[in-house]
Amino acid sequence: MKVVFDHLERARLATLPTALEAGPNLGGGTRLWVKRDDLTGLGGGGNKARKLEFLCGDALAAGAGALVTVGAAQSNHCRMTAAAGARLGLEVHLVLSGDRLETIAGNQLLSMLFGAQLHFTGAEESHWGELEMAREALTEQLDVEGLAPYAIPIGGSTAVGALGYAAAFIEMLDQFDAAGIVPSHIVFTSSSGGTHAGLLAGRAAAAHGGRRVPDVVAIGVAKGVNIGRPDIAELANHTLTLMGSTAIVAHEDVEVDTRWMGDDYAVPTPAADAAIHWAARTGGWLLDRTYSGKGCAGLLGLAAEGRFGTDVVFIHTGGWPALFAPGGVPPEPAGGAR
Ligand SMILES: Cc1ncc(COP(=O)(O)O)c(C=O)c1O
Repeated sequence: MKVVFDHLERARLATLPTALEAGPNLGGGTRLWVKRDDLTGLGGGGNKARKLEFLCGDALAAGAGALVTVGAAQSNHCRMTAAAGARLGLEVHLVLSGDRLETIAGNQLLSMLFGAQLHFTGAEESHWGELEMAREALTEQLDVEGLAPYAIPIGGSTAVGALGYAAAFIEMLDQFDAAGIVPSHIVFTSSSGGTHAGLLAGRAAAAHGGRRVPDVVAIGVAKGVNIGRPDIAELANHTLTLMGSTAIVAHEDVEVDTRWMGDDYAVPTPAADAAIHWAARTGGWLLDRTYSGKGCAGLLGLAAEGRFGTDVVFIHTGGWPALFAPGGVPPEPAGGAR
């Protein structure tokens, strides 16, 4: 049975399908393929464009006049929500960790350029609960002001947002067929879990329809934001319900590898820094130190452990604007540029 999303509200914001690019051999006979979700088009690209298509579709259907969301100081999700609001003519309010810096840079600079209003909470970088409470308070205030706000939790990781990655999973299966490959795994960077839940929902629906599906491995880069097996499976199953599918994601299907997170969210690691240099000089791929650099470090680490089959896919979820924030570019690797 074909998996379809046509019955769901969707604002067309992303340039899809994104390319599936052939990469180098990772050793042990495994070839890398890069799914270029850094090139989703909206406001500098990244994974959030896919979630925002469904979230904004829902917001417009609800008659929203504004979008309110929340994130860390250099949130890509906030930047892309700002761009979505600009495209759709919706006012955008962003609740951010930290304080307003004298020089606004990276994602914040782009969010401002897209016309969003930035609300600094002074909260610590990964105090997600405090940030969500500030987002709720601001939403209530905007509601009283008559703005008809549509609130989007951290990372857009609701069942509605996750629909974007359920659809992405089906998009990838079609590309694998066209390329004549059968990847053993799809690897990607995970933080708030919506990308993960969506991929697992798409995988379950496709398998239910008789298609052959790769395993999904999340490289976890944030402590305490839905990095827990029950939450991801629950979110995925809610997503499947919205899709009208009777397939089920089991807790055993959820794999989050946190070995490449380092000390905490947004704390750089030598492995991620090395992966950023490797990716830039191997494929011209731009990774960042908080998300995709750590994800790629996980990919390379798992490849070195011999985990993959003949083909593996890395979803490049984006994050390049953070390279232009203070401390965004890692130091030259020992031995300098090759
Ligand atoms: C560049 C990048 N990669 C990966 C992720 C993780 O996506 P999710 O929050 O859906 O787990 C994010 C989330 O902010 C991101 O900005």
